[in-house]
Amino acid sequence: GASRPRVTFLGTGYLGATYAICYAELGYEVLGYDVDPDKIAKLNAGEVPIHEPGLDELLRRNLAAGRLRFSTDIAETADFGDVHFICVGTPQRADGMGADLSYVEASVTSLAQHLTRKALIVGKSTVPVGTAEWVEQLVGKHSPTDLDVEVAWSPEFLQEGFAVDDVLRPNRIVVGVKSEWANGMLYAAHKGVFDLAATEDREVPLVVTDFATAELVKVAANAFLATKISFINAMAEVCEVAGGDVTQLARAIGYDPRIGNRFLQAGLGFGGACLPKDIRAFQARAQELGAGEALRFLHEVDLINLRRRTRVLHLAAELLGRRAGPAGPDLSGTRIAVLGATFKPNTDDVRDAPALAVAALLHKAGADVHVYDPQGIDNARRAVPELTYESGMAEAVAGADLVCVLTEWADFRNADPTVLGELVAGRRVVDARNCLDSALWTQAGWEYRGLGRP
Ligand code: UDX
Repeated sequence: GASRPRVTFLGTGYLGATYAICYAELGYEVLGYDVDPDKIAKLNAGEVPIHEPGLDELLRRNLAAGRLRFSTDIAETADFGDVHFICVGTPQRADGMGADLSYVEASVTSLAQHLTRKALIVGKSTVPVGTAEWVEQLVGKHSPTDLDVEVAWSPEFLQEGFAVDDVLRPNRIVVGVKSEWANGMLYAAHKGVFDLAATEDREVPLVVTDFATAELVKVAANAFLATKISFINAMAEVCEVAGGDVTQLARAIGYDPRIGNRFLQAGLGFGGACLPKDIRAFQARAQELGAGEALRFLHEVDLINLRRRTRVLHLAAELLGRRAGPAGPDLSGTRIAVLGATFKPNTDDVRDAPALAVAALLHKAGADVHVYDPQGIDNARRAVPELTYESGMAEAVAGADLVCVLTEWADFRNADPTVLGELVAGRRVVDARNCLDSALWTQAGWEYRGLGRP
């Protein structure tokens, strides 16, 4: 019934798997659906396909409790759920700008075809504004005519590394609905989150709005975060020519609560599965709608972000005493240790990782590149096989003419520059995340360069 609806999550990738597991933890009866039988078999065997703190334990506990299972059977999924959450991927299209909605179309169509009773289909994937209306039409076309299946939209704001907490303790819930019935069902489907908050003396703000606004909230939030990061990286560019220190500048402006100090870390810029893809898809959609000008700045945000990568290449060349020719710097004959491959620390995710992009640039410029990352080596090797991967920091830096710290893992921040200094051929370091103690490294005899610092 509506007091505790049974919920399904279609697509058991990063988003769907995390939600399915966390919703079982909240006490819901949950079914996760995916077309990939390997993924489903692993999940049913208690294996989490992604690296996310705390998720393994929750998966096993809830499988054992019988509240959670996974299936490749769409008829079973349709029959199970009162509320179905669409969590499939919306990758970047081959043209590099818009979002590919083919997984949304396929999952919604087959679900609708198999429904046997009235249900609510809720989109969660990040999509171009207007998708919810289109999904509603798809559902109308493919579901049995007597059922009156409804659609709603509820974006998510998961941050990798904090995903479990972000589902159980979100800082807001946003729903786009068209009817009181849908509103009530979605409230019931979120009640576990509100109840948990109440026991912890917190409140989770709920924003009930229309389809378009709900869809836009997600991309607007990501566009804002990307803009904030590129803003401080633009200041870093200015600091580099003016002789200022962007880390001090960021600290100083961040004390103004209207600005705030979070997401103001200058460095190699943003990557990952969301921010780069989402700002491009958002621009493409605005263009289609005739509001391209309004988001033209996001193109600049993207360019500032990408320029940080070439800046590191040129800093590396500068430290190694190599001049840049018309085709860029020639680094042949040099050995470079790259510390970090993931798009941020505490994940194994290398999708659109600035660190790996820079490692590839250094390699292309002729350097012998040795990469170490605490969690991301396997994924990095699959993505960029031509680099040399090492199993430890010491192995990576051994004999290096230059060390580049490209992801701010605690292991690198806490590394002893004196110990590392004995392993390298030349004590030169590029701190592309401004995460090292520059005084300490300089004292240990290193030539130190950060981004946006004198
Ligand atoms: C992001 C959003 O934070 C999340 O709300 C949304 O749902 C998905 O996209 P995520 O991709 O996990 O989450 O990464 P996030 O922690 O936001 O970091 C994104 C990138 O920005 C990383 O590459 C990180 O290194 C970089 N970053 C972040 C900076 O360069 N500087 C900062 O100050 C903060």
